[in-house]
Amino acid sequence: MNIHFLFGTETGSAEMLCEDIRDALGDGFDCEITSLGEVDPATLDADTFYFFVTSTYGNGDLPVTAQPFYDKIVETGQDLSHVRFAIFGLGDMVFSETFAFGSKILMEKLLEQGATMVGERCIHDASSPDMPEDLGIPWAQEIVQQPKAKAA
Ligand SMILES: Cc1cc2nc3c(=O)[nH]c(=O)nc-3n(C[C@H](O)[C@H](O)[C@H](O)COP(=O)(O)O)c2cc1C
Repeated sequence: MNIHFLFGTETGSAEMLCEDIRDALGDGFDCEITSLGEVDPATLDADTFYFFVTSTYGNGDLPVTAQPFYDKIVETGQDLSHVRFAIFGLGDMVFSETFAFGSKILMEKLLEQGATMVGERCIHDASSPDMPEDLGIPWAQEIVQQPKAKAA
């Protein structure tokens, strides 16, 4: 199974979580990790399962480096009906009005463009005692077992 982690981050937590999940999934998965800032949505393919992992900044926005990925989908109206994905959001309940909105708006855009989501969006609150990997690893392990994630 090909897995591509696409992260949006400003201080590195989302990228570290991708690495932790990749390490926990172990052998048997062909994993790649890339910043959303380096990915063109037109290149997403049907043979890969995508884990989007992004934090939230500004007024409930995506991190600066992830914004162009989102904007490109909006500009081009990119058809994503061949794309299968799961999404993890990092946020902080200190920002209660925009809690984890970066992952929310990205999820909504991917769905709007026809992509298939596997599992529920998982959210980490930086004000909670949990570490992102405490939530993210069991979540991802369950996702990759689902037939919809395995199907090419
Ligand atoms: C300036 C600033 C603005 C933030 N705005 C939000 C926000 O609107 N909503 C939210 O849920 N979290 C917000 N956060 C919290 C971050 O999303 C959270 O700390 C996250 O874990 C950072 O992950 P990263 O290291 O991958 O960027 C903000 C953090 C900072 C420093």
